[in-house]
Amino acid sequence: MRQLRSILLTGGAGFIGSALARHLLKLHGLQRLVVLDKLTYAGNRGHLIGPDQDPRFSFAEGDIGDREFVARLLHDHGITGVFNLAAESHVDRSLLYPDDFVRTNVTGVAHLLEACRSHAVPLLQCSTDEVHGSVDPPRRFFDSSPLNPSSPYSASKAAADLLCSAAVKSYHQEVVITRSSNNYGPRQHAEKLVPTLVKAAFHDEQLPLYGDGMHIRDWIHVDDHCRGLIAAFKQGISGEVYLFGGACERTNLGIARSVLEVFAKPESLITSVSDRPGHDRRYSIDNTKSFAALGWRPQHKFKTIFPSVVRELAANHHGAQV
Ligand SMILES: NC(=O)c1ccc[n+]([C@@H]2O[C@H](COP(=O)([O-])OP(=O)(O)OC[C@H]3O[C@@H](n4cnc5c(N)ncnc54)[C@H](O)[C@@H]3O)[C@@H](O)[C@H]2O)c1
Repeated sequence: MRQLRSILLTGGAGFIGSALARHLLKLHGLQRLVVLDKLTYAGNRGHLIGPDQDPRFSFAEGDIGDREFVARLLHDHGITGVFNLAAESHVDRSLLYPDDFVRTNVTGVAHLLEACRSHAVPLLQCSTDEVHGSVDPPRRFFDSSPLNPSSPYSASKAAADLLCSAAVKSYHQEVVITRSSNNYGPRQHAEKLVPTLVKAAFHDEQLPLYGDGMHIRDWIHVDDHCRGLIAAFKQGISGEVYLFGGACERTNLGIARSVLEVFAKPESLITSVSDRPGHDRRYSIDNTKSFAALGWRPQHKFKTIFPSVVRELAANHHGAQV
């Protein structure tokens, strides 16, 4: 069992990272939390609390690809574990700027691995179910499913996963890999599907859906994902992969309808736009291994919590009264 004492969290100013920071600071045994973030367009310092609110917390602006900087943080703060959530994370942008994705998601992870190795610090690498590509029903993804990425984003994440596995085999480094499905929750960047639909529905604009809107994703609440990340860091076996899904498969059309329902807006606002190139049809997660090995379960029910997430996104991005 790994202890959560002095933690470096990368990408902590992003959507999932800022939620994970909140979870980590609730742990009584935690002595220090250092967030390292490059503050790209996707990072928001305001998503995080300040050291005045919790003396265990500090923030460092920087790049995971800067080995010396990361090594200094590991040394100066006596870091005992790293969670890597820093990434370029938007599939559409990866089609336009694949280099950025290789720089952070692949080269950045290679450098982070080196820094962790030089300080003998365990790393949790947060990855995605998208590395497996599309799967037809009734099949699901297991940790052993082949890597079959379809976008520069998922290809860069798959490459990082392979670098992590190789580091375990070549250097006996301690690295645990997690792959979750689509997250929903507060503080998600406006470019992603749910916030895009919320914005359109709130302002009575057209809700854009790729193609026929029948692409299926599993949806997990960000807090369930964070609990999984912590369980995998503590109990996960080095070199192993743990999958986290919300046991909640929905078409994009279904998600758009759920958003409209919250605002009591008509379905006629939904509109089809040209499909994304290489758009995977379906992702589906088998949680069996994470249930058995980590004792983890998703706690949130989509039907119950999704409306409040929609209202919170509308309040934060568009000043709606909740
Ligand atoms: N959002 C999802 O549904 C989802 C699902 C599965 C896995 N993931 C993975 O979870 C992780 C976090 O995703 P997210 O949705 O919170 O992303 P996000 O885009 O909201 O946040 C990413 C954060 O990383 C920072 N960052 C980017 N490049 C950096 C660099 N070189 N050095 C340091 N910081 C850098 C950004 O400033 C930002 O704060 C990613 O690894 C992503 O692949 C996300």
